[in-house]
Amino acid sequence: MNEEIPFFRDTWTEIDLDALYDNVKMIRNALPRNTHMLAAVKANAYGHGALQVGLEALRAGAHGLVVALLDEALWLRKHGIEAPILVLGAIRPSDAGVAARYNISVPVFQTDWLEEASRSMKDGDVLKVHIKCDTGMGRIGLRRADELKEVEKMVSASDKFLFEGIFTHFATADQQEECYYQQQLQKFKRFIDLLETVPTYIHAANSAAALCHHDSLFNTARIGIAIYGLSPSEERQFIPKTRQVLSWHTKIVHVKKLQAGECVGYGACYKAREEEWIATLPVGYADGWLRKLEGQRVIIEDEFAPIVGRICMDQTMIRLPRYFPVGTEVTLIGGRQDLFISVDDIAKKLDTINYEVTCSINFRVPRVFKRGKQAVEIENKLSTRFL
Ligand SMILES: Cc1ncc(COP(=O)(O)O)c(C=O)c1O
Repeated sequence: MNEEIPFFRDTWTEIDLDALYDNVKMIRNALPRNTHMLAAVKANAYGHGALQVGLEALRAGAHGLVVALLDEALWLRKHGIEAPILVLGAIRPSDAGVAARYNISVPVFQTDWLEEASRSMKDGDVLKVHIKCDTGMGRIGLRRADELKEVEKMVSASDKFLFEGIFTHFATADQQEECYYQQQLQKFKRFIDLLETVPTYIHAANSAAALCHHDSLFNTARIGIAIYGLSPSEERQFIPKTRQVLSWHTKIVHVKKLQAGECVGYGACYKAREEEWIATLPVGYADGWLRKLEGQRVIIEDEFAPIVGRICMDQTMIRLPRYFPVGTEVTLIGGRQDLFISVDDIAKKLDTINYEVTCSINFRVPRVFKRGKQAVEIENKLSTRFL
C-alpha cells in the first residue's frame, strides 16, 4: 500500500474480482441455461462490498441481485445498478411506494400488508411482488393454501401490484439428510400448483440447493456463499473449483523483545516462556477480528505466527518466529507465499460458519478491489477524501 491509497491504517481486505468473476461464471455454467441466477449481495455482499460485487456478478452473467433490506436495494440503485433487485426481507407497507418508484421487487405474504401498502402508494406506482411461502424455515412467509389464494387474488386484482415471482427458502439444503428438504420442496410445488397465474420468477434454491439438487431450480436460483468461493456447508463439499475471493491483511506497527515471564495483553494472560519477539498488529475485535481468535495463526512471509494474549478492540499481538521489522505485512485470512488461511479455518476457530466470518468484517476495514495484482478500486467507509 502507498500514499495514493485513501486510508490511513495498515489493515485492509482484498477482494479478488477475477476470482469472483470466474466463480460466478462457473456456477452460471453449471446451472441449466434457462435458469436465472440472482447473486446474493446482502450484508455488503457478505462483507465483500455490495456495489463492486454486484457489478462484477452481473458482468459475469448473473441476471439480477438479491439483498435483505430495502435500504441495501436503494443504495445499489442510487449507485447505478439497473438490473432486477429483489429484497428478501419484509419491508414496511408504508415504504411500498419508494420500492415501486425505484423498481425494486419485494416479498409479500399478508393481505393486511397489501391493503396498507396499497393505501400508502401514490397513483401510478406499481410494485413488483414475489409471494413468499414458508415451507419450513419458520420465518417470514405464508404457510397455508388459503393464505396463498387470498394473497394472489389481492395482488392480481390491484393495479398497484405486479405479480412477478413466488419463492421459498430451504432450511436444510446443505445437509446430507434429505427428508426435510424434500418435504419443503413438495410443499412449495403444491403451492405453485394452486396459482391462477404463473409469475416470471419461481425460486427456492440457495447455493447448496442449486449445486446439489437440480430439482429445486424451477427457473431461478439465489446464489450467495458459493460466488465468494466458499462452501455452504462443511457436510457437503460440492462446490465446483471456485476460489476464495476475500483475503485480509495488516502490517506490524511495533516489535519488542519480551523477557521470560513478561506478559502480553488484558488480564496478563500470556506469559513469555523465554526471550520472545512480540509484534503488535493494528486490528482487533472492533474490526470483526474477534477475541475468540486468540491462539489462531497468522502468516508472516513464509511462516505462521500465533496470536498471543487477548485480542483487544483495535490491536492484536503475535509471537514472531524471529525478528521482523515494523511495516512487515501479515496475512490474517488468505494466501502468502505457499501458506494459506481459509475463511473456513477462521470459522472453525470461532465455532461458527464461514458466512459469519466475512459478514463480521465491518466498515472500519477498507476494501481493496483487485484485478490481477492491480488495485482497481478502494472502498473506505471512513473516507478522508475531504482532507
Ligand atoms: C432467502 C435467501 N435466499 C438466498 C440466500 C443465499 O444463500 P447462500 O448464501 O447459502 O447461497 C439467503 C442467504 O442467507 C437467503 O436468506
